Parts: sequence; structure tokens; C-alpha cells
Amino acid sequence: MDRCKPTAVAALLFVLALLFEQSCQQQGALPLTSPAERLALIRIRSSLGLRAKEWPIKSDPCLSWRGIGCRNGTVIQINISGFKRTRIGSHKPQFAVHALANLTHLESFNASFFALPGKIPDWFGQKLGSLQVLDLRSCFVVGAIPWNLGNLSSLSTLILSRNNLTGTIPSSLSYLLKLSILDLSQNSLTGSIPPSFASLHDLSIMDISSNYLSGSIPLGIGNLSNLQQMNFSRNKLTSSIPAQIGNLTSLVDLDLSSNHLRSSLPLGLRGMRSLQKMVLASNVLVGVLPDDLFPAFTRLEFVDLSQNGLVGSIPNALWSISSLRFVDVSGNKFTGTLPNNSLSANATAAALNLSNNMYYGGLTPILGRFRSVDLSNNYFEGKVPDYTESNISLSTNCIQNVTKQRTLAECTLFYSSKGLTFDNFGIPSEAPSRKSHKRTIILAAVLGGVGLLLLLLLLLLLLLCTCKRGFTNQRSNGVGPIPTTAVLSSPGVSINFLSLGEAFTYPQLLLAIGDFGGGSLIKQGHSGDLFKGTVESGIPVMIKRISLNSVKKGSYLHELEFFSKVSHPRLVPLLGHCLENENEKYLVYKYMPNRDLSSSLFRKTNPDDDSLQSLDWITRLKIAIGAAEGLSYLHHECAIPFVHGDVQASSILLDDKFEVRLGSLSEVCAHEVDTHQSVINRFLQLPQTSERGPSGSQTSTSAYDIFCFGKVLLELVTGKLGISASNDLSVKDWLGQTLPCINTNNKELVTKIVDPSLIYHEDLLEEIWAVAIVARSCLNPKPSRRPLMRHILKALENPLKVVREEDTDSARLRTTSSRGSWNAALFGSWRHSLSDAAAAAAHMTSSATAGGTSDRLKSLGTCYSEGSEQNGRVDRLSEILPELPDACDIERDDKD
Ligand SMILES: *[C@@H]1O[C@H](CO)[C@@H](O)[C@H](O)[C@H]1NC(C)=O
Ligand SMILES: *[C@@H]1O[C@H](CO)[C@@H](O)[C@H](O)[C@H]1NC(C)=O
Ligand SMILES: *[C@@H]1O[C@H](CO)[C@@H](O)[C@H](O)[C@H]1NC(C)=O
Ligand SMILES: *[C@@H]1O[C@H](CO)[C@@H](O)[C@H](O)[C@H]1NC(C)=O
Ligand SMILES: *[C@@H]1O[C@H](CO)[C@@H](O)[C@H](O)[C@H]1NC(C)=O
Ligand SMILES: *[C@@H]1O[C@H](CO)[C@@H](O)[C@H](O)[C@H]1NC(C)=O
Ligand SMILES: *[C@@H]1O[C@H](CO)[C@@H](O)[C@H](O)[C@H]1NC(C)=O
Ligand SMILES: *[C@@H]1O[C@H](CO)[C@@H](O)[C@H](O)[C@H]1NC(C)=O
Ligand SMILES: *[C@@H]1O[C@H](CO)[C@@H](O)[C@H](O)[C@H]1NC(C)=O
Repeated sequence: MDRCKPTAVAALLFVLALLFEQSCQQQGALPLTSPAERLALIRIRSSLGLRAKEWPIKSDPCLSWRGIGCRNGTVIQINISGFKRTRIGSHKPQFAVHALANLTHLESFNASFFALPGKIPDWFGQKLGSLQVLDLRSCFVVGAIPWNLGNLSSLSTLILSRNNLTGTIPSSLSYLLKLSILDLSQNSLTGSIPPSFASLHDLSIMDISSNYLSGSIPLGIGNLSNLQQMNFSRNKLTSSIPAQIGNLTSLVDLDLSSNHLRSSLPLGLRGMRSLQKMVLASNVLVGVLPDDLFPAFTRLEFVDLSQNGLVGSIPNALWSISSLRFVDVSGNKFTGTLPNNSLSANATAAALNLSNNMYYGGLTPILGRFRSVDLSNNYFEGKVPDYTESNISLSTNCIQNVTKQRTLAECTLFYSSKGLTFDNFGIPSEAPSRKSHKRTIILAAVLGGVGLLLLLLLLLLLLLCTCKRGFTNQRSNGVGPIPTTAVLSSPGVSINFLSLGEAFTYPQLLLAIGDFGGGSLIKQGHSGDLFKGTVESGIPVMIKRISLNSVKKGSYLHELEFFSKVSHPRLVPLLGHCLENENEKYLVYKYMPNRDLSSSLFRKTNPDDDSLQSLDWITRLKIAIGAAEGLSYLHHECAIPFVHGDVQASSILLDDKFEVRLGSLSEVCAHEVDTHQSVINRFLQLPQTSERGPSGSQTSTSAYDIFCFGKVLLELVTGKLGISASNDLSVKDWLGQTLPCINTNNKELVTKIVDPSLIYHEDLLEEIWAVAIVARSCLNPKPSRRPLMRHILKALENPLKVVREEDTDSARLRTTSSRGSWNAALFGSWRHSLSDAAAAAAHMTSSATAGGTSDRLKSLGTCYSEGSEQNGRVDRLSEILPELPDACDIERDDKD
């Protein structure tokens, strides 16, 4: 009984098999005839380690092996796609690929998702001449694509995606004239796209995405009139999008995203009438979208232009494409307002992403078309209308009654740069709700009052801010819809953008610099890194990158405000700015070939040896005078006096002729003219500006500049670099040793401190001596006793007068001091410096040791305390105070 069962089953199976075989034969299938092909299949079978049930060894391959297709007894198709190896087979996957060479009639080989490690053999092209389909996606194939594949003249489908193919794309593939699908995506292919591909007229799908292809898109691509899908994304393609691809009238799906394509979108693209999907995201595309582009795309459903440098506004025609379902234009520089509802927009689109642009104005019903909307990081204003019930993201805008919006200053800045008025979040016009805190009422009241005070202040500024010379923008207009002269005015900041040079785009800056890599870095300053570059017009520039993460947010605004009011030949020219980026702002200055004083005082003349050549005295004096002119202009010639706040050798920039252009202007601040204005200023101070020190009188604020300038003069005389950049103890010590050697009655004494590398004629010693005396008078420990900048300038212009008049007729000088001549002023302070020195020293030391920040210290200037926080500048007066009384190491002059 027991034996009976299996026999019965076997018999049943046999009958079934017979029936099956018969049915196959009825359909015209023949058993495999060629022994060579059988052998080849068996070799392949054993190398692949397939499971027995798939390719049963004792059956005829043509009749019963899965995935084997035959015609008239020969194998024409192998499909092992999705097969699984036995456990042993998958332990060390192999493939007897050479056996394929005997399957000469093979038309289709599909091994997708089946591991066939190894290379594609060179002989494929010769031996498999009938091949029409080769699908090796995800087969762990490595190596290069063999040149000989170009001999597979019947090939219509070539899919080699998701492998680890390397090398270039052989141009021989352009001989595959029947090719309809070419998919080489997700490999490691390099090189460029062969221009000869233009001959593949039957191509309908071309996917070469996710490789390392470089170079440009060949113009001939436009000839592929049957192309429906073109995916070149995630490569390193450069240069522009050729207008010729507009000839692809059948193209449905275009993806060129994540490359380095520059240029603007050519109008020629509108030839792609069938386009449904357009993805150009993450390139460096610039320029505006042509108005006539979108009306051509009547079937467009999916548009992704995100993360480029596109500017201008989005053409209204885009919004009216009725098939539109998905729009992503985020991360560009698009600006403009949303179109109003009157569009023929009908279909409801799924998603709109307009985030990270510079769109402004109110929210319009067009948004009702989209189910999901992201408008974050723009400048939209007004209220949220009720039709936007959809999922809408509005953060970082200027919208009323929504959390996480931009600050009033940012909104005001933006709207005034467009020549528009920002509505102040509508706050003053709204009665504060009952729930609201007392604090918010006060805030609202203050903000309302700010508007009024602002107007007052602005009027005041308009009256006052006319510098006596070199002042470019006397007529700055008030806030309001005045498109020609956009004036920014938010509390504490007032900027006329028209006088600030060109508004560069970030891509333009990238072009100018190459990359913000180390190569173009000039120096790292405390207000930002300086890079050298060349703008499109060929002008060399310095670009300061201000990272708002590391620098106080308002500092660049103060610098811009300053430049918008002031221009002078002694200030470094601001050529433009780029404020597009959220966290990094860029200021563009004229390039200074001789950098700055700290790097030019000693120069390497011969790159081969280390010998340094130091600047001659004539040039040093010229630099001193130039810097004094600049500072004198700031201190005295503007209706609103300015304090430089960062006077040191590295702030004294030098052009090709060693003419001084003052730089490092980020700490410049206007200071209060009278108490009335200072009250207004203090009242209006924004959080960022409130970090400035308490206001003091005019003389004491500029006095800090003068103190620092004195150190610069000493650097010029002594060649001791770094004195003006620091206030630490060693500098204090050095000053204590050096200053005593500057004596109005003893010329020779100064030779002890003169720069040993300075070769000067004996005649010039008197000039050097004079400059040293001026320097010492600037370093008077009492700020109020330091000479005024205009007197210092006069003294430097006539150095011999400084010493000779004092020398020859000191008595006369004493009497003239009351007349207020420059000389008198200088020596007035000099005498004070001598007579008060001991007393001052005693006083300062005691107050410093007492630890209190004395009023005197505060009175160093509004810019002073700001700088000291950042740079570790002097915090105690004792540190800027030279050790007094004098202790020059030669015997003191008897007369003194
Ligand atoms: C192809 O078939 C011939 C004859 O059967 C045989 O000699 C040869 O080894 C085969 N080649 C391969 C690569 O299997
Ligand atoms: C089928 O193959 C045989 C020999 O293998 C050949 O004689 C015959 O012509 C072939 N028929 C067709 C239709 O190809
Ligand atoms: C190839 O084989 C797989 C799995 O057997 C099957 O799903 C697929 O349809 C086959 N493809 C072709 C083109 O024969
Ligand atoms: C290869 O087989 C897979 C099924 O596993 C199929 O999806 C694919 O389209 C086939 N390739 C070609 C080129 O027909
Ligand atoms: C075809 O094969 C021959 C060698 O047999 C080779 O010289 C030629 O370059 C190949 N042609 C293409 C287009 O690959
Ligand atoms: C591709 O091949 C290279 C070298 O042959 C290897 O370093 C790399 O890891 C491979 N990548 C993948 C994804 O297999
Ligand atoms: C292809 O495009 C170019 C430029 O857009 C145009 O001049 C040319 O006529 C077009 N060729 C065809 C065949 O449409
Ligand atoms: C709006 O859609 C309806 C049908 O959904 C269609 O009949 C009508 O023509 C469309 N109108 C416009 C202006 O596209
Ligand atoms: C602000 O929003 C809250 C809820 O989000 C709403 O209740 C309130 O009326 C709004 N106020 C104004 C003035 O729009």
C-alpha cells in the first residue's frame, strides 16, 4: 500500500507533463536543438546557483526553464530578473558570462536585480549581434562600458543603471541607431555627454542621472525629436541650458536638476509643447523667467525651479496654466507680489512652495488654488485671509498677528528698499486687545511714537547731514512710496540705497571670487572675512563677508548707513553690496593693491629671499597725512561728526600709489551733536545698537580715535608693528619706555626709538622728531587734552613748524595758545600732557585698581566700549597710560 502512493503520483505527474509539453508544441515551441547552446545554458546555470525548480536540469530549457525564450529551437531570450540564488550560490555569486558567447541568437537578456558581479566583456558587441534588449540594472556590474557595445546594431533597450560603472560614456553608443531607451543612471561615469548622441533619432528615454558627468549639454540633443524623457540630474554639468532643447517637441519629462548649470532660461525652451514636468532645481540659474515662456506649456503639471539664483517676478502666465499641480520656486531671489484673483486659474493644484524668496505684498486668493502652501522666509505683509484654510506656512514674513515673523527693522528695511512703506504690522491702527499685557500696550505706544520721532529725526538728519565736501547724497528723501530714491529708515538706521553702489546677486559674487575658498581670502577681520575677486566688468574688488552668526546683526547696517551718507576720497570706496542671503551679507569695496599699512610698512621685494624693504620716510609721512585727512573729515567736516572707532594700522588701506583709503568702517558711529539729539538717539536705539557705550561729549569720543592714531604715528616712526592693534600689557610697557624718548627739547633723543630700518637723511630727523611729538600729544592720558584731528593734520602738513616754533620761540607760543591756532592747540595739550602726567597717572592707577569703570573711562567714546568687548581692547585706562613720569634710559633733560 505504502509503495503504491508515490508511483501513482509519479504517473499522474508524467501525464500532466506530457499534456503540458504537447500544449507547448501545439503553440509552435520546439525543444532546444543546438548542443552548444544547451552546454552554454548549463554552464550559466551552474555558475548562477539557481534553484532546481527554476531551471530543472533534466528538462528541455526551451520547453520548461523559466525565463528562457526560444524560437525554432534556439535561445532568443534569457530573463533571470528577480530570480534568487541558492544559499550556496548567493554566498559567492558568480556568472559564467563567457558562455553567453555561444547563444548567438540571443535577442533579450534581462538580469535586473540579480547580482552578476564583474565587468561587461568586450566581446559582447561582436558575439551577441542579435541583442535587442540588455537590462542589467542593479546587477553589481563594475568597470567601463565597452566600446564594442556600439556594434550591437539591433539594440533598442540598454539599461545599465544602478551599478558601479566607471569611465566615460563611449561615443560608439551613438551607432545604436535603433536605441529607444538608454538608461545609464546611478553609476560613477565621468567625462562628458558625447555630442554624437545627436544621431540617436529613435531615442525616447535618456537617463544619465546620478553620475559624475561634466561638460556642457551638447546642442545636438535638440535633434532627438522623439525624446520624451530626459534626465540629466545629479551630475556636474556646467555652462548653459542650450536653447536647442526647445526643439524637443515630444519631451514630456525634463530633469536637469542638481548640476552646475549657469545662465538664464532661454526663451527657446517654449518649443517643448508636450512638457508636463520641468525640474531645473539646484543649479546656478540666474536671470529672469521670460514672460512668453509659460504660455507655451499648456500641459505643464510639475515645475521645480528651486534653489537657483533666479530673479525678477514669476510671470503671471505660470499661475494660469490650468494643468498645474505642483510648483516649487523656493530658494531663489524672486520678488514681486502675488497676482490677484482675476486669473483664469481653474484646476486646483496640490502644492506651492515659494519659500526663501523676496516676495512681498499681501496674500491673494490665488493661494486658495493650492492645498499646501509654503510662503516662509519672504516679506509678505498684511493679514491672513480666511480662504487660506489649507496647510499654509507663513513663518519669517512681515505678516500681522502671526508668530515667528521678521523684525520691524527687517521689514522696514526691505519695504523701503523697494520704495514702499511698511505698514508697521498694522499695530498702531489696532486697539490693543483686553487680554494683552500692559507691556504690549507700552510697546505699541512706543512703536507708534517711534514713527513720529522718526519723522522728526529724519527731518533733523536731512537738515544736518550735508557734509562740507565729498558728500554725494545730500538729498535723501523721506520714507514713502518714492521709487527713485529708496531710503531705508528704521529706528536708528537710515540708509539711502542709491548711493551704495551696485546690488550684486550672490551668483555674481560667486563668479567674482570663484569660491569663497581659501585662495582668495585676503584676511580675516573681526567684522568679517575679506576676499579678493574680480567683478564681471573686470574691476578687482575686495568683498567682505559678514556672517551674522558671528557678528552683531546691526553692524553691517551701520556701515551701510555710514556709506549712504558719506563719501570721501580718503575712505575706501564701496562699490556695492549683496544682502540677499539670510545669514551672510556682503559688502564690495574697491580693491586696494597695497593692502594696508600693517602689511605694507615692511614689504618683501624679492620673493626668493626673506629680506624686507621698509617704506621710506616720505611715504610714511604721506600715509600719516592721508590718514589724518580721512579722520579729520570724519571728525570735523561732516555736519554729523563721525568717530572711526577702529583706528589701527590695518584699517589704513593703501592704493597703488600709497594713497590712504580708510577702511574697517564697521565700527564707525555718528555721535551726538547736542544733548537734545542724543536723547532722541538713545530713545530710538534698537537692541543691536544699544550695545554701544553710553554717549559722551564730542571731544571725548573722537579722542579715542586720536589716541589710536597716536599709536599709528608711533608705528610709522619706530617701525614697531602691532602697537596700534593692541592695548595689552606689553604695549603699555613699550609705550612707557618709548614716550619718554620724545622730548620737545631734545631732538637727538628720538634717534633711540626711530625705526632702525628707516634710512633717512639727517635733514629729515627733524620731521621724524616732529611726528613723534605729535604722536605723543595724541597719547595724552587725558582724553580732553588730546589735540583735535584738524590740528593734528595741520601739524603733520607742516612738521617743521611743530619743532622750530617751539624751539625758537617757546614763549611766543605760550601766549598764542589762547589764540587757538593749531600749533597752540597741539602744544597746549602737550604741556598739559607733561604737567598733568604725574597727577593723571596717579589718578588713573588708583581708579583702575579700585576696579570701578570710571566715568572717565566711559567718556572714551561711544565706539570705545563696543570695541573693547570685541577685541579685548583696553578695558582700563591704566593700560593705555604710559608709565609716567618719563624714564627714557638716557639722562633726563635738565630743563625739564
Ligand atoms: C561554444 O561551443 C563550442 C562548441 O560546442 C565549444 O567548443 C566552446 O567551448 C563553447 N564556448 C564557450 C565560451 O562556452
Ligand atoms: C528552423 O531551424 C532549422 C534548423 O535548425 C532551419 O532549417 C529552419 O529553416 C528554421 N526555421 C525557421 C523558420 O527559422
Ligand atoms: C522576467 O521574469 C520575471 C520574473 O519571472 C517576470 O516577472 C517578468 O515579467 C519577466 N519579464 C519579461 C520581459 O519576460
Ligand atoms: C526585465 O524584467 C523586469 C521584471 O523583473 C521588468 O520590469 C523589466 O521591464 C524587464 N526589462 C526590460 C527591458 O524589459
Ligand atoms: C565593431 O567591432 C570592431 C571589431 O570587430 C571594432 O573595430 C569596431 O570599432 C566596432 N564598432 C563599434 C561601433 O563599436
Ligand atoms: C564602486 O567602485 C569603486 C572602485 O571600484 C569602489 O571604491 C566603490 O566603493 C564602489 N561603489 C559602490 C557603490 O559600490
Ligand atoms: C532647433 O533650435 C534652434 C534654436 O532654437 C533653431 O534655430 C532650429 O531651427 C531648430 N531646429 C529644428 C529642426 O526645429
Ligand atoms: C474650468 O474647469 C471646467 C471643468 O472642470 C472646464 O469646463 C472649464 O473650461 C474650465 N475653465 C477654464 C477657464 O479653464
Ligand atoms: C489674531 O489671531 C487670533 C487667533 O489666531 C484671533 O483670535 C484674533 O482675532 C486675531 N487678531 C487680529 C487683530 O486679527
